[in-house]
Amino acid sequence: MKVHLLIVLLLVSNITLSSGFLDFFAAAASYVIHKFLEQDDLLPFDFKGLEKDLRDSLFGQHIVSDVVLKAVKSFMTDSNPNKPLVLSFHGTAGVGKNHVAKIIARNVYKKGDQSKHVHIYISEHHFPHRNKLDLYSEQLKQWIHGNVSSFPHSMFIFDEMDKMQPQLIDVIKPFLDYEANVDGVSFRNAIFIFLSNAGGNVIAEVALDFWREGKDREELWMNSKELETKILQNIFNDKNSGFLHSSIIDHHLVDHYIPFLPLELKHVRQCVMTEMHHLNMIQDYDLADEVARDLPFFPAEEKIFAVKGCKSVRQKLVLYAD
Ligand SMILES: Nc1ncnc2c1ncn2[C@@H]1O[C@H](COP(=O)(O)OP(=O)(O)O)[C@@H](O)[C@H]1O
Ligand SMILES: *[C@@H]1O[C@H](CO)[C@@H](O)[C@H](O)[C@H]1NC(C)=O
Repeated sequence: MKVHLLIVLLLVSNITLSSGFLDFFAAAASYVIHKFLEQDDLLPFDFKGLEKDLRDSLFGQHIVSDVVLKAVKSFMTDSNPNKPLVLSFHGTAGVGKNHVAKIIARNVYKKGDQSKHVHIYISEHHFPHRNKLDLYSEQLKQWIHGNVSSFPHSMFIFDEMDKMQPQLIDVIKPFLDYEANVDGVSFRNAIFIFLSNAGGNVIAEVALDFWREGKDREELWMNSKELETKILQNIFNDKNSGFLHSSIIDHHLVDHYIPFLPLELKHVRQCVMTEMHHLNMIQDYDLADEVARDLPFFPAEEKIFAVKGCKSVRQKLVLYAD
């Protein structure tokens, strides 16, 4: 208490004594010092912390929570992994794929997904032109190599992986391999996360079958109805998917193909409640229910799953807030 009081007094006297220019100068200097001291490296890995974060901020994805927790734990606590961690997230839009990648990032890096060690590439944004594929390939190779050589625990997130050109996917491949070592740089500590809608429809079908059979969603596991095999087959059979033509799948370089289930009304309601909190609104269950029900659901008759998951929940909520 005394120390706080002293600081407040100092601040007040400083403001009254100095001119506007000095104030500005002092603020700028403290900003620079603060930035300089702020560290951008790994957090000590906290298994309980990640577990709690997933439990508190991820809704309706029990398979994801389970697999991500185990995979990240065993990778982060292994002082000498034999390959980088490679996860492939599958599911329809808005079910939490980007969200989980960020949850992992904030439990690994001090600055979370804002860390300069977290690299997010969105195919149609970063690599839009087919005629520049050779340039992109060269760049991507250099970026991965350069960043991992300066910081071995770098993280690379590839969004819209299903829209990525096979040539580019093949650039990533050598970095994912066992004992991967390119020009003297080891990639064993890096993390690669692929996000895609590939397999999303199959996952939704399996979840719907489960619901129609009156079974509890939580009883659906990776091996129920051979979910993982079905996802793989689906990716293989999708003629438009970059995955199909790439050699990543047949070389077994992906550690886990992780299915994100379509979200139900109650999960969307939870997302609305979370957004209310973020927007500093009072959490109102009835309003959350109204906002959630206003979103489109499928299939047409039963209306079980949200078409866009929790996407655009915030935008919808803002309309109701006024
Ligand atoms: N399962 C979920 N649990 C909690 N929040 C979610 C979930 N799915 C989506 N969201 C919320 O909706 C937003 C959009 O989801 P996102 O992760 O970008 O979807 P995807 O990458 O699967 O298309 C996220 O930022 C998050 O706030
Ligand atoms: C790291 O990757 C980014 C793109 O994500 C790139 O701009 C930067 O040049 C890379 N750094 C190195 C050292 O290669």
